[in-house]
Amino acid sequence: MTAIHELTARSYVPDRRGPRGLIKRLLPQTLFGRSLLIIVTPVILLQVVATWIFYDRHWDTMTNRLAFAVAGEIGMVIEQLERDGSMADRTDTLAMAARTMDLILTFEPEAVIPPRHNSLNGLLERTLGMALDERVRKPFNVDSRVASNWIEIRVQLTDGVLSVMAPERRLFSSTTYIFLLWMVGAAMVLFAIAIIFMRNQIRPIRRLAAAADAFGKGRDVTRFKLEGATEVRQAAAAFLVMRERIQRQISQRTEMLAGVSHDLRTPLTRMKLQLELFNDSPDVEDLKADVIDMEQMIEGYLAFARGEGAEAPVPTDLNRLINEAVSSARRDGAIIDVHLEGELNLPLRPNSVKRCLANLIGNARRYADHVWVQAGRREDAIEITVDDDGPGIPTGSHEDVFRPFFRLEGSRNRSTGGVGLGLTIARDVIRSHGGDITLAESPRGGLRALVRLPV
Ligand SMILES: Nc1ncnc2c1ncn2[C@@H]1O[C@H](COP(=O)(O)OP(=O)(O)O)[C@@H](O)[C@H]1O
Ligand SMILES: [Mg+2]
Repeated sequence: MTAIHELTARSYVPDRRGPRGLIKRLLPQTLFGRSLLIIVTPVILLQVVATWIFYDRHWDTMTNRLAFAVAGEIGMVIEQLERDGSMADRTDTLAMAARTMDLILTFEPEAVIPPRHNSLNGLLERTLGMALDERVRKPFNVDSRVASNWIEIRVQLTDGVLSVMAPERRLFSSTTYIFLLWMVGAAMVLFAIAIIFMRNQIRPIRRLAAAADAFGKGRDVTRFKLEGATEVRQAAAAFLVMRERIQRQISQRTEMLAGVSHDLRTPLTRMKLQLELFNDSPDVEDLKADVIDMEQMIEGYLAFARGEGAEAPVPTDLNRLINEAVSSARRDGAIIDVHLEGELNLPLRPNSVKRCLANLIGNARRYADHVWVQAGRREDAIEITVDDDGPGIPTGSHEDVFRPFFRLEGSRNRSTGGVGLGLTIARDVIRSHGGDITLAESPRGGLRALVRLPV
């Protein structure tokens, strides 16, 4: 009478200890995250390498050539200025240079540039410095901070200073930014496309996981259809076949046992009638008691088998079920303390669960004076404990008492309860919801029954 249970999908926690565990913890846990990482990492790596190559080769070369071009022009102007005889000639030269070179040139007679203290900053100033060293061969100063987008170059001539204002565009390739923009833009576009595609690929896997999880918890798996990539479809088809087989097995087993029990009733009734014909010797009394026992066992099982499977899971307020079970036990004179920690709503077969609770509470009050019922949420499960201050059950028998018709006292004393199906049924109900019942020693002195229901 066991149902499928054990691990539920969300209670699965991967082992994450040790150095490999650390890497695993840093990596994304979901398939979605991992697939994105697999797609995006090579692209980003590629872009980094491409950018590096671009800067190292192209950008360096470009800056160099531009700097040498400007330095060469300045060098030519200086040579011309040195050749010019009069001030008028010099003015002519400067005007010609301004017209043709996209540079602003001024001559400051008798000026002296101060000796350079600061070293040249940045790739641009350094490259330009190198070019001027080679093409002009005179003391100079480069300053890119005098005006934005302009660079000032001052060269010491024998009788004054030539001041050149060069626009940055003459020294700077603006394609750099466009290149970077394209890189980032392309990465974004790729990222977006990857997200959309991966979402669609992973949705069927998520649905399959959810369906398997729901089935494990005994909930209805409705509107589940085959979709996604071939492998996912295969897994989903296998799941459907497996679900079909499990459901068939459960109902076959229940039907068969119910049939057997039902058919046993007729011969038992006959035996009872025949026993009535005998006189009342003690042997006959014993036989009669046995037959009555068997009858009750069969009735008990039939009552359970009839209820099983028929009920559909519906969203249920578990606290209400607990309160109902408790108050009906209280009406029979039990002393019960109830402690409910908060709202507990989940899909359940309400009548089955109520029966399970009634069985546990009924046991407790049968063997003890005082009963404590407690319910609350623990991470991924709801836990209900039923404690009592009775004699309890020896640890070795904690599993035995769940077996059908197993009763501890072994006596036929009907005053202490039923036929030995109470705990069997209770566990069956909880396992059909994907949970389990376990027994333990109660801190109150008696037995503790612990019900765990996955949410
Ligand atoms: N709270 C309890 N305290 C002590 N013994 C218990 C308790 N609950 C169950 N048991 C023991 O476990 C056996 C099985 O319980 P159960 O399956 O409910 O059958 P039943 O109540 O029909 O005897 C009981 O016969 C009893 O010996
Ligand atoms: Mg019982």
